Amino acid sequence: MKALILCGGAGTRLRPITHTRAKQLVPVANKPILFYGLEAIAAAGIKEVGMIVGDTAAEVEAAVGDGSAWGTEVTYLPQEAPLGLAHCVRIAGEFLGDDDFVMYLGDNLLEQDLRSFVERFEADRAETLAPSLTDAPAEPAAAQILLAHVPDPQRFGVAELDAAGRVVRLVEKPADPPSDLALVGVYLFDRSIHEAVASIGPSERGELEITDAIQWLVDHGRRVRSEILEGWWIDTGKLTPLLDANRLLLEKLEARLEGEVDDASRVEGRVVLEAGARLVRSHVRGPAVIGEGTEVVDAFVGPFSAIGRRCRLERCEVEHSVMLDDSSVLDAGRIEDSLLGHHVEVTRSAQLPRAIRLMVGDHSQVDLG
Ligand code: TTP
Repeated sequence: MKALILCGGAGTRLRPITHTRAKQLVPVANKPILFYGLEAIAAAGIKEVGMIVGDTAAEVEAAVGDGSAWGTEVTYLPQEAPLGLAHCVRIAGEFLGDDDFVMYLGDNLLEQDLRSFVERFEADRAETLAPSLTDAPAEPAAAQILLAHVPDPQRFGVAELDAAGRVVRLVEKPADPPSDLALVGVYLFDRSIHEAVASIGPSERGELEITDAIQWLVDHGRRVRSEILEGWWIDTGKLTPLLDANRLLLEKLEARLEGEVDDASRVEGRVVLEAGARLVRSHVRGPAVIGEGTEVVDAFVGPFSAIGRRCRLERCEVEHSVMLDDSSVLDAGRIEDSLLGHHVEVTRSAQLPRAIRLMVGDHSQVDLG
């Protein structure tokens, strides 16, 4: 079993952060989203990983390296443009060969572990391939998909199942969804997917859709297993889900205070204060994580905040927010539900007339509250 992680894409829904950074490397609970996926793949016992990369290839390579930090061996597979999930399988054909593989969207986060999902696919295939079992299904599953009940199926790839849970139809972002079962960003395939991705053409939005490739398998009599997701799943590609993911992962935090806390500061609940971080006359209410070298002075850091490395917070309150490395918030009042990029400065100067003075990048969003 190999893994194919999709780390290309445009990331338009997370601009302006993605003008300069890979969305898969945005940290939640101070760890890049992609690292959670790599950990899950390694924990499932998979060692050979193909990584689809696009414009942000250099950044992804710098962060992941050869994959040995996870006990994996990563091969980078450049994609010239985000031409669709099935296009990723096409360009990975040589790397994947005839092996079964898990395809994992690099910006997705799942609570469910991958190992049991993979094991059930392998068990299904072993059973159907064993000649002694007469009552087993006649033919091994060619693919296994993971589905989640969602309130807004129009936004997703949607599956229609028969009474036995077998996939009969898949549609991408349907105006009139046949069910509320959305495809989660983890798929298992055997080698027959290669014929499927070679046989389909681009969709109306110009992409080679993985839903069309799986539909091709169904139409050619191949069995597609489905499972319903256990626990939460987040497609982090937009601000609100990213903050949700940050909240859910901070819930699992184990407290660790390695930085300095002065006598006038207070730390409540589950808080990680990394080495070299400093609290001065401040109050931190967990779950929250404060990165290495960050200084918090006369400030309040509220629940579900993830503050990066080398940040500075002074005379302000920050809650339910993600702040990336090297940013500062000074005299800024209270900030909530926010995502601040790298090297961002939020200040309040004494300059008159009192006014909001902005230098804001393309596609930024500012809510004056
Ligand atoms: P999406 O979130 O569907 O697409 P996107 O990254 O282009 O984002 P947006 O819609 O905001 O512009 O992609 C899911 C994952 O798959 C994500 O990690 C990017 C990756 N991907 C590729 O690697 N190649 C592709 O051709 C596409 C479409 C996505």
